[in-house]
Amino acid sequence: MPDDITAVLTMERVTKVFGEGDGAVKALDDVDFVANAGEVIVIMGPSGSGKTTFLTTAGALLTPTSGTVKVSNIDITNMSESELPDVRREKIGFIFQSFNLLESLTATENVRLVLTKARRGGHHPARELLDMLGLGHRLNSLPKQLSGGEKQRVAIARALVNNPDLILADEPTANLDAKRGREVMLLLRQIALEMQKAVVIVSHDHRIREIAHRVVWLEDGTFLPDVATTRDPVCNRVIEVEGAPTIDSEGQTYHFCGHDCRKIFEADPARFDQSD
Ligand SMILES: Nc1ncnc2c1ncn2[C@@H]1O[C@H](COP(=O)(O)OP(=O)(O)OP(=O)(O)O)[C@@H](O)[C@H]1O
Ligand SMILES: [Mg+2]
Repeated sequence: MPDDITAVLTMERVTKVFGEGDGAVKALDDVDFVANAGEVIVIMGPSGSGKTTFLTTAGALLTPTSGTVKVSNIDITNMSESELPDVRREKIGFIFQSFNLLESLTATENVRLVLTKARRGGHHPARELLDMLGLGHRLNSLPKQLSGGEKQRVAIARALVNNPDLILADEPTANLDAKRGREVMLLLRQIALEMQKAVVIVSHDHRIREIAHRVVWLEDGTFLPDVATTRDPVCNRVIEVEGAPTIDSEGQTYHFCGHDCRKIFEADPARFDQSD
């Protein structure tokens, strides 16, 4: 297959097995995947389906058991541990659910920390980025002085500071309220479109579907085509319709991620309207 110049991430027949023998877990099972520049792809799926394993394998933090991973046309599969850090720093930006900021460093220092030598020149990319993300007045603030949304924007600045082609985000809105979560989602979409980056986001959040060019469903380490999904009205998670516990109320069927959410709904159905 010829290399597509816009393909930023290409994974071919990627399998990841944790452990050995009876205790072995196949977290990724023969997965194919392509993410192109300018594209936002959202990966959804039940807990334990392999989403984080997928993201960390795509991001060169985890070596697959078999198969090929290419980032910006560089085959990272057989790279040595000494070569990988440069690829991670220059080609890939990671955004985590928990922000992963260092508490003793200011916003600017947190971003500058990961900056490659080549990009440290005359200008100040960390400050410029924070400014662009609306944090120009928070450059010297410590993480504990920032709101959740502001912290996540610092983490996004850090992911962008080396101008990588690929942005990987693991539940980036999970610790944010609805308004901040929405801002972060729109920002990720803008980054993909305007900066022509491939953005791959793992999320359970039903609202994130609105910014995605593509939503894919991972289950038991495999991407499934055409899975019918819906939203749990209690926890707002996107869930698979098949096999989900249900309640019929006021002529409508509601699906739940589990029996706990079903119980909460049952106690007071009027609390959970379906208008959004
Ligand atoms: N380091 C590890 N060692 C052994 N097993 C692991 C390891 N990491 C993940 N697993 C297993 O691999 C499977 C996939 O885990 P993964 O963390 O990728 O799921 P996930 O889809 O991200 O789940 P969640 O939605 O709960 O974050 C699970 O069965 C998990 O227990
Ligand atoms: Mg996970």
